[in-house]
Amino acid sequence: MIELIALLVLSVIYIVYFYYWIKAFRISAPYFPTSKKTIKTAIKELKNHKVKHIAELGAGDGRVAFALAREGYEVSAIEFNPILVLIMKFRKLIGNYKKVHIIREDFLKLNYEKYDAAFIYLYPKVMDKLAKKLTQEMPKNAVFISNTFMFHDKKPVSTSENKIYVYINEK
Ligand SMILES: C[S@@+](CC[C@H](N)C(=O)[O-])C[C@H]1O[C@@H](n2cnc3c(N)ncnc32)[C@H](O)[C@@H]1O
Repeated sequence: MIELIALLVLSVIYIVYFYYWIKAFRISAPYFPTSKKTIKTAIKELKNHKVKHIAELGAGDGRVAFALAREGYEVSAIEFNPILVLIMKFRKLIGNYKKVHIIREDFLKLNYEKYDAAFIYLYPKVMDKLAKKLTQEMPKNAVFISNTFMFHDKKPVSTSENKIYVYINEK
């Protein structure tokens, strides 16, 4: 009986995870984590700017959000995959990360006016939509950090060796 329940629970987790994986693959980007080296570069780049509250759009398992929180930043980790959200909530609890706010939502449905920076690791197909949205909603001089993929209509203020692109919101 216990085996059957465990199998059922695992099957539900598997189905939910892959439903959102496929959804993310179609509209933005499925889960693929940023490497430790790239996180270090992003933090180094962020330190060149005056930033307090960062939105991470598609936070995955939260590794970037928690690393940023350890540096003292306030981070809103936005993720729509409930399994990844559960993992983040567990990590937040274990690590007592008070500066990480986990938001289970589609990042395209939120407003970003209260943030002064955004971290993004998403496919180019959603970047154009986000470029417009973040430019309009975020304050002037907000910092956008993109891992691997570039905004087509913006010029980065810096580009690092492991593909961290930094943009400043010129409005
Ligand atoms: C390439 S992964 C990046 C994960 C994390 N930011 C990192 O750098 O390690 C993209 C993440 O965005 C999430 N995602 C994709 N589309 C989303 C959406 N519309 N709303 C919220 N999360 C989304 C996926 O579930 C996935 O976890």
